[in-house]
Amino acid sequence: MKNTFYVTTPIYYVNDVPHIGHAYTTIAADASARYHRLKGEKVFFLTGTDEHGQKIEKTAKSQGIEPKQLADRVVENFKKLWKVLNISNDDFIRTTEKRHYETVTYLFKKIMENGDIYKGEYEDWYCIPCETFLTDSQLVDGKCPECSRAVEKLKEESYFFRMSKYTEPLLNYIMENPEFIYPPSRRNEIINFVKQGLRDLSISRTSIKWGIPVPGDEKHVIYVWFDALTNYITAAGYPHDMDKFNTFWPAEHFIGKDILKFHAVYWPCFLLSAGLPLPKRVVAHGWWTVEGQKMSKSLGNAIDPFALTEKYGVDPFRYFLLREVPFGNDGDFSHEAMIKRINSDLANDLGNLVKRSVSMVEKFLNSRYELPLNIGIHPSLAAHFEETIKEYDNAMLDSSFSRALEQVWNFINILNKFIVGTEPWALHKNKREEDLKLVMSNLMEGIRTTAILIYPFMPETANKIFRTLGINEDLESYIKNNPMAREFGKIGGTFQVVQIPDLFSRLEEERKKVTPSEMKREEKNLISIEDFAKVELKIGHVISAEKVEKSDKLLKLTVDDGERKRTIVAGIGKFYTPEEMIGKKITFVSNLKPAKLMGIESEGMILAASDEKGLSLVIPEKDVKAGSQVR
Ligand code: ME8
Repeated sequence: MKNTFYVTTPIYYVNDVPHIGHAYTTIAADASARYHRLKGEKVFFLTGTDEHGQKIEKTAKSQGIEPKQLADRVVENFKKLWKVLNISNDDFIRTTEKRHYETVTYLFKKIMENGDIYKGEYEDWYCIPCETFLTDSQLVDGKCPECSRAVEKLKEESYFFRMSKYTEPLLNYIMENPEFIYPPSRRNEIINFVKQGLRDLSISRTSIKWGIPVPGDEKHVIYVWFDALTNYITAAGYPHDMDKFNTFWPAEHFIGKDILKFHAVYWPCFLLSAGLPLPKRVVAHGWWTVEGQKMSKSLGNAIDPFALTEKYGVDPFRYFLLREVPFGNDGDFSHEAMIKRINSDLANDLGNLVKRSVSMVEKFLNSRYELPLNIGIHPSLAAHFEETIKEYDNAMLDSSFSRALEQVWNFINILNKFIVGTEPWALHKNKREEDLKLVMSNLMEGIRTTAILIYPFMPETANKIFRTLGINEDLESYIKNNPMAREFGKIGGTFQVVQIPDLFSRLEEERKKVTPSEMKREEKNLISIEDFAKVELKIGHVISAEKVEKSDKLLKLTVDDGERKRTIVAGIGKFYTPEEMIGKKITFVSNLKPAKLMGIESEGMILAASDEKGLSLVIPEKDVKAGSQVR
C-alpha cells in the first residue's frame, strides 16, 4: 500500500460565480486532504478551473471579451474563495495552461495510436449549457434532462472514441471494485447505465474555436470533457514527471452527482484505452437547495459563500456543510439550521467545554496541567476515545463526514458529562489535590484529542484550542513531530493554559423568513374584502337569558336586534351566568343560517375573545343602539 493520497475536486467552469455548491465539494476534499495529512500520508490535493468549450466561448462573446480574458478574471474569484475558506490545495490547475495542452495532446495521440479514435460524422441533439450531445430517448419533453433547457440539432464531422469497446471491461472493473463508486445507490445507477451498452463518443468539434486543437487536424478542437477530465493526470505529472505520477495516481475524485457519468464512465474508458490505472474512487455528493428551493441564476438565490463566511465565520460554515447532511444525500441550506448548529453544537457543546475547562485549570491549578501519561489515565475516558477514533477513522475513510462528526460530538458530550460527574470545583474545595490533577489532566487530554479530530473540518478552531491549551505549535506540524499524539494518553508534558476569546458566539435565532412557497400557502388563507362583507355583524341587546337544560356550556339568550327579538344559543355558560348577561349589549353575526343546538333553534352567533383564562364578550366601548352595524 502506498502511503500517499491524491484527492481532486471538479475543475469549475469560469462562466459562473462560485456558490455554495462549489464550496461544498472543495471543503469536503479539503477535509479529506487534511485528515490524510494528519495520518502521516503524503497528500496531493488538486483543484482548478475548466476554461475551454462553447459555454465559456458564448459567455465571453456576450460580454464582448476574449474567452481567455473571461477566464483570467473569473479564476481570481475561485482562488480568492479557496483562500478565505482555508482550502489547503497543493496545486491549482487551469486548462489553458501549457502543461495541460501538452498532456491532452499526448493522451489524444496515445489513444489514437491504440486504434480507439476514428473520424466520422455526428448528428444529434446538443445541449449547449451542458456541452452534451443527447439522443432522442434522453430528452425530457424535448428538452435537456439535466437543465431543462432547449436543445439544438447539431451535425458535424467529428472524431469518435470507441467507447463501445469498453462496456465489458468497465463493467467488470466496477463489479470487482465495490468501493470505486460512492455512494452505493449511485453505483447501481452507473451499473444499469453501462449494462445497456456504451455508445461511441464524439470527442471533437468543428463548431467551436475555443479549445485544444486535435493534433494533426486543427480545424477540430477536442471535446471539452475529454480536455477537462485529463486535468487530473496533467497535474499529477503525466507524462513528463512519471515519478510524481506513479507516486500519487490514482486519485479519489470528489464531485457532485451531476457529473458522475463523466467521471465513472467516460473517464475510466479513456484511461483503460491509454493503459493507465483507473481512479481509486469517484465520490459523488448530493445537491444543495437553498431555503427549500433549487439554486438558479434566474431566481438569484445562489448562496454566496463570501457573504456567508462573513456572517457566520469560516469554520462554522465548513462545519455546517459537512455536518448537516450525510455526504451523498441532497441537503437544504437555511439560515435557521445554520444558526441552530452554531448555537448548540459549536457555542454550547464545544465552546463551553473548552472555556470552562481552561478556566478551572487557571483557577484551581494556577494555570498549569500535566498530560495524563505522567499522572494517570482515566480508563473510562480512554476507552471512549478509542471507540470514537475507531468509528471516526472508518467514517472518514468512507467519506461519511457527518458520521465522523457525530462520533466527535458524542465524545464532546462525554467530556461535558465527565465534568459534571467528577465535580472538579468540589475536589478543589475539599483540597483533594491529587484527584483534581487526575481529573483535569484527563479532561485536557480529551480536549487536545478532540482538537485533532475536528482539525480536518475546522482547522482554525483546532489551532485556537491548541493555543489555549498552551501548545505553541501548529497542529499539523505538532502531529508530524509527535505521531502518537493522535491517541489518548500516549504523550506526556506539562503545559500552561492561556485564555483566548470565545471560540464561537451564540447568535440570535432569526425570525423565520417566509419563503415564496409558504407565502403562496398563506395567500390561500387570506380573504378578500368582498368575502368579509358577506358577514353581517350587529349589536344586540340581551333581554333575557337562561341555562339550557342538561348543558353547562350553553345559554339561551333572547336578543333585541333592533327590529325583532331573536333567540341565540351561546356557548358561554362556563364564564357568564344568565343573570349577568341580561341587559348587556353584545356583538353578533346576524346573517348566520339558523341551526339547532340541544333542540333549540339559534339565529345567530355572539362574538367573544378567548385566551387561556377563558372567554370575554366583544362589547361596544360606548353605548350604541341595538341593531347598529359592526364593520
Ligand atoms: O461541471 N449542490 O463545472 P461546474 C452541490 N467544469 N454541489 C454543487 C451544486 C449544488 N447545488 N452546484 C454545483 C463542471 N455544485 C465541469 C467539471 S471536472 C473534470 C469538470 C458543484 O462549475 C458540484 O461539485 O458546473 C458539481 O459537480 C460542480 O459544482 C460543477 O461545477
